[in-house]
Amino acid sequence: MDFKELRKEYETAGFDPADLPDDPLQSFQQWFNAASESCPDPLFEPNAMALATSNTQGAVSCRWVLLKGITETGIKFFTNYDSDKGQQIAANPQAAATFHWPWLGRQVRMEGAIGKTDRTTSEEYFHSRPRGSQIGAMVSRQSSEIESREQLEQMQSELESKFEGQEIPLPENWGGYHIVPTRVEFWQGRLNRLHDRIVFVQDDQASWTKKRLAP
Ligand SMILES: Cc1cc2nc3c(=O)[nH]c(=O)nc-3n(C[C@H](O)[C@H](O)[C@H](O)COP(=O)(O)O)c2cc1C
Repeated sequence: MDFKELRKEYETAGFDPADLPDDPLQSFQQWFNAASESCPDPLFEPNAMALATSNTQGAVSCRWVLLKGITETGIKFFTNYDSDKGQQIAANPQAAATFHWPWLGRQVRMEGAIGKTDRTTSEEYFHSRPRGSQIGAMVSRQSSEIESREQLEQMQSELESKFEGQEIPLPENWGGYHIVPTRVEFWQGRLNRLHDRIVFVQDDQASWTKKRLAP
């Protein structure tokens, strides 16, 4: 593999920062809609985002999660609260999330505070999932060491029998998180690496400033 040959030009038309609404979450909604509508194949999962969290010693972890909602102040995803990410978030409630939509040559980055969603939001989302995924969430003590795959599958069939014909209750340790960004950056790839970068930064009075950054 010759990494020097892995090179692509971003031949997009760019974008006019004036076209972005003054509110970064509204701007994000616009870009997310454009990414979803133009996505060439659902396999690309336009709602996939790289989520970075860290512990109190400053060690950082990053993994993919799926965006499951855009609110007026932030974005939501769902997971296991006892997982590694859940423990990091409890210790240091700050997160960064990054989206990449290569078919548009676009990236969006968000950074800010993170907290649990209310229980009703978690209940609603949990019960909207396929039954198999609900059982899966209950089976998996996410991020902890297990003996074998068989152990997971045995627990899965035990829970399927236990809850046959009944609603599967939302596990205590499973639910949503809401990231409320104070920095949101929109990146549009352009020719010769002279990309467009527009960043929204929130001040202490919760008002947003929009700036252009060097690529
Ligand atoms: C495309 C993609 C989407 C994912 N979405 C989620 C998700 O929404 N929630 C989740 O808990 N894990 C999701 N995962 C699994 C996580 O990347 C990760 O393996 C898991 O959450 C455990 O992470 P942790 O040990 O850092 O807590 C996804 C993985 C991929 C590849």
